Amino acid sequence: MERTAKLTFEGHELELPIEEGAEGELAIDVSDLYGKTGATTLDRSLANTALCRSQITYIDGDKGILRYRGIPIEDLVYRPNFVEIAWLLIFGRLPNRQELSDFSEALSNNQLLHEGLRHQFQHIPVDAPPMAILSAMLNNLACYHQELLTVEDTEQFTLAAARLISKVRTIAAFSYRRSRGLPIIHPDPALRYCANFLHMMFSVPYRHHVLDPEIEDALNLIFILHADHEQNCSTATVRTVGSARANLFASCAAGVCALWGPLHGGANVEVISMLEQIAAGGMEPEECIRLAKDKDSGFRLFGFGHRVYKNYDPRAKILRETCERVFARIQVRDPLLDIARKLEELALKDSYFVDRRLYPNVDFYSGIILRAMGIPTNMFTVCFAIGRLPGWIAHWKEQHDDPSSRIIRPRQVYLGSKQRGYVPMSER
Ligand code: CMC
Repeated sequence: MERTAKLTFEGHELELPIEEGAEGELAIDVSDLYGKTGATTLDRSLANTALCRSQITYIDGDKGILRYRGIPIEDLVYRPNFVEIAWLLIFGRLPNRQELSDFSEALSNNQLLHEGLRHQFQHIPVDAPPMAILSAMLNNLACYHQELLTVEDTEQFTLAAARLISKVRTIAAFSYRRSRGLPIIHPDPALRYCANFLHMMFSVPYRHHVLDPEIEDALNLIFILHADHEQNCSTATVRTVGSARANLFASCAAGVCALWGPLHGGANVEVISMLEQIAAGGMEPEECIRLAKDKDSGFRLFGFGHRVYKNYDPRAKILRETCERVFARIQVRDPLLDIARKLEELALKDSYFVDRRLYPNVDFYSGIILRAMGIPTNMFTVCFAIGRLPGWIAHWKEQHDDPSSRIIRPRQVYLGSKQRGYVPMSER
């Protein structure tokens, strides 16, 4: 028998269907509520609203579980490479050898930027924020690949996806090189995905960057950990933009803009600023915790808390362990890691954080590893974006392929003035 929920509203009883997710999670379907009652639901910041049905990523926030296409994140981070995970997320299953090789080849074939796009870098101020550049350049891909603005079949879609996943590294590395006044290093098709990014970031003409396999693995792991996280702010943005049938480039560029915010992907930059301030003696860890608890301070403990996780973020757990491995390998210990651990220890035994179930999230430790790789702080959120791109593309595709999807258009509760007349300027 179909499960329903009963709602009594102005003397009438209404039955609302209940939808059950694959893991038993329940959702009361209110899509017809307005039509039947003339009332909307108010769910500020969509904290309790399922935006869509999805088969891509599962999170159990209470238990700290994250799975991509059913596979636990812990099983994905040490063996596969990022390109394989991108394929898994986008196409719904692990690729076979041929499919992975074809996709990798498509990435290699699409790693260069159109010369017109490359020249655009010259007109951007050298100190421009790399996230602004990334968003603009991803959107500008639409100018150079107009044949992909509508995707009619899987072949065309795959080409658009490969262009984005491949070129995002090139764009990111070019923006870094330009900000330092360094010559642009073109991608090397012989290198794997992460190695190629590190090459474009750190090689110099006639001197190839010497690749450390531990660093390459750590970057691969970081990209995989960021690859999808169901309906987070940027993915919901990509879906919203895509729901108007906007093209894949424009939708992903919008995702970059959302990710930039310090409450979302920009938090990894804020974490490092906070740790650096403590390291420089500008603040004691205890003071940092005190400020985070003080609502009037306007300060938050960045890298802590999550809308869905009310337990340790499994990605943070993996990154914390990775920090140790990377530092052991490069035989350098960053004092920021000790400060981060101290902050975590203080927070996790403080009733403010315990009562609100605030734990470290993915952004708490990721920046410390990126720093160890020589990646500058203002590129951290760009690295998050490179990792998240397959997730955005997977969600865009899922929505695009769903014949029942409609334009996303929420309602509001209007609290403004009632009707009033226009007052001419002379009478004001
Ligand atoms: N420091 C201090 N207090 C916090 C923090 C924090 N980092 N996070 C949440 N709180 C408090 C918040 O003030 C509120 O307290 P009260 O109930 O007394 O009003 C309570 O905890 C619930 O927080 P919320 O802001 O209602 O939770 P939310 O689901 O709206 O926001 C969040 C989630 C991630 C934006 C928030 O926890 C936060 O601002 N964290 C710091 C920024 C951050 O690390 N963002 C990265 C998120 S994970 C990766 C990603 O998606 O990019």
